[in-house]
Amino acid sequence: MHTDDLKYKSFKKRNNTMQNPSLSDQLVAMLADGQFHSGEAIGEVLGVSRAAVWKRLQALEALGLSIESVKGKGYRLKSAISLFDQQQLDKMAIEFGLPAMALHRELDSTNAELLRLLASHQAEKGQIVLAEKQTAGRGRRGRSWSSPYAANVYLSLLWTFERGMRQLDGLSLVVGLALQRCLAELGFCDARIKWPNDVLVANRKIAGILLEINGDPTDQFHVVIGIGLNVNMLDSHGSIDQAWTSLQQQQKVLHDKHQVLQVLLASLLPMLAKFERHGFNHFVSDWSEVDALHGQEVTVTIGDQAVVGEYRGVNANGELKIATTHGERTFNGGEVSIRKSYHG
Ligand code: BTN
Repeated sequence: MHTDDLKYKSFKKRNNTMQNPSLSDQLVAMLADGQFHSGEAIGEVLGVSRAAVWKRLQALEALGLSIESVKGKGYRLKSAISLFDQQQLDKMAIEFGLPAMALHRELDSTNAELLRLLASHQAEKGQIVLAEKQTAGRGRRGRSWSSPYAANVYLSLLWTFERGMRQLDGLSLVVGLALQRCLAELGFCDARIKWPNDVLVANRKIAGILLEINGDPTDQFHVVIGIGLNVNMLDSHGSIDQAWTSLQQQQKVLHDKHQVLQVLLASLLPMLAKFERHGFNHFVSDWSEVDALHGQEVTVTIGDQAVVGEYRGVNANGELKIATTHGERTFNGGEVSIRKSYHG
């Protein structure tokens, strides 16, 4: 295929965002409040027949929304949702001096999409891709990331580094710290980080970070910073094979995702700028204050090897330190996993 064809293909893909909301997008925005809306009223606002409304409602159910229909009252979502709105995102992008954010109703993965944009030279530093739902959300170590429609923030941000891979040490820890501060700002003073970057509230995972790298590690390279933050996810959204929580589950209120994103970017962007200038060294003591593993006996698993020792925090490169019977050992990210040791 000619490269111009490729560009055209991804340009079309890029236009497949929420810049031009479809009837289904307008319908879901109308129902987001969780109140009843009659089929007639919906049809009038959207300029379509009641039969067309019915068809669109079925499409929304296919996205994973539960819709209740009561004779004489109309339709409503079983619980209210918070949806991103492109205009509000446009304003936020201007406020933070970022390129326009690309919002998608559904994507395989925001990280995958940003990597595709990068490959076709359609993404610049600071570019953000958001989705209301991911069908193949990626987690660390090849795991998947549960991404039900409208429930959470699924975000990828492109950052560019000029001076080679050394710079990257500790980046994922800094992003974790930015999330911890965002959560503290939202009232979760007990938010902690479990090395390298699981963000926990009440000992349950509330956010995860996946960095994907593109470019020459010795020269300029790009990092796609993928963040999944559980905002309004509830048990009814399905089961997840690890202890998790969300803002709504903890505080029992529906959170406006714009407000959450605003707080997150206000915390993350200045920290990325500081990290670029000074590296992780400048964050070690702040990070250590919110370290979930402080003072624990831990097991580090690398492949099929397990190393048991006393957790000693992180060094200036963001590497994990463990005091073992054979002396202190350090571990960096990637294949290393860590879990608390269980006694008795
Ligand atoms: C983890 O396993 O803890 C990392 C999860 C990262 C999930 C986010 S959601 C947005 C971005 N797109 C993806 O496919 N993954 C990341």
